[in-house]
Amino acid sequence: MKIAFIGAGKVGAPLAARLAEAGHEVVFAESRGASASVASALTRSKRLTSRPLAEAVSTAEVVFLATPFGANESVLRPIAPLLVGKVLIDCTNPVGPGLTHGLRSERSGSEMVQSLAPEAKIVKAFSIYGFENFEDPSYPGYETTPAMLFCGDDHRAKELAADLIVDCGFEPFDVGGLVQALHLEHMTLLWVRMVRAQGHSPGLAWGVLRRPKQNKA
Ligand SMILES: NC(=O)c1ccc[n+]([C@@H]2O[C@H](COP(=O)([O-])OP(=O)(O)OC[C@H]3O[C@@H](n4cnc5c(N)ncnc54)[C@H](OP(=O)(O)O)[C@@H]3O)[C@@H](O)[C@H]2O)c1
Repeated sequence: MKIAFIGAGKVGAPLAARLAEAGHEVVFAESRGASASVASALTRSKRLTSRPLAEAVSTAEVVFLATPFGANESVLRPIAPLLVGKVLIDCTNPVGPGLTHGLRSERSGSEMVQSLAPEAKIVKAFSIYGFENFEDPSYPGYETTPAMLFCGDDHRAKELAADLIVDCGFEPFDVGGLVQALHLEHMTLLWVRMVRAQGHSPGLAWGVLRRPKQNKA
């Protein structure tokens, strides 16, 4: 799959490298000329390349958004026409003072992203953990892989996202439409507060266990 990453920092770099090594054609979008983070991320895999923003986005089937939440408006507005019909995987999280929801829980960050790129097919994914789990999603000794909860309104976009989630080492778990993004963002805050504030291990991940439904005879 042809994939473009906008943002090559703690989140974008490890995910892009994993997807490139899994066989995808992955390119970093250079949105502001020479970028130290893009240069550093490119060293992770010989399969990674970089291109100017418009070229990277135009040729991609899937675009990852991995920029600081506050940059989303300036990044997305100029390229919204290029994102028409494309899958946009939103990894960003609006985080406010004191690890609160950055949009006061009135609206999700992903719904704001949708308003900035109205004709893109938004999937919120790769947002509920810290970057440490993107660097290393392995959990030796466990029979399950860590769950990656994701949401979005477009069925086909979510199928593509689920495949990429598997390629990054997680179990995809579709939690519903984009209306669920607010709840995923609160899940992120829960993880961040537990790990960054309370001192739990950044290797903390959620798992999905299912008991078959019992038939009431
Ligand atoms: N860190 C985590 O553990 C984590 C986990 C899950 C989700 N997230 C979310 O993922 C997003 C990225 O986080 P991160 O930790 O990867 O951030 P980061 O390490 O600071 O990287 C941000 C990337 O975005 C680029 N960027 C910054 N401002 C930009 C702008 N105005 N226009 C275009 N590109 C810009 C940076 O490029 P330059 O280097 O050239 O400035 C860099 O490549 C955030 O929304 C965050 O909430 C973070």
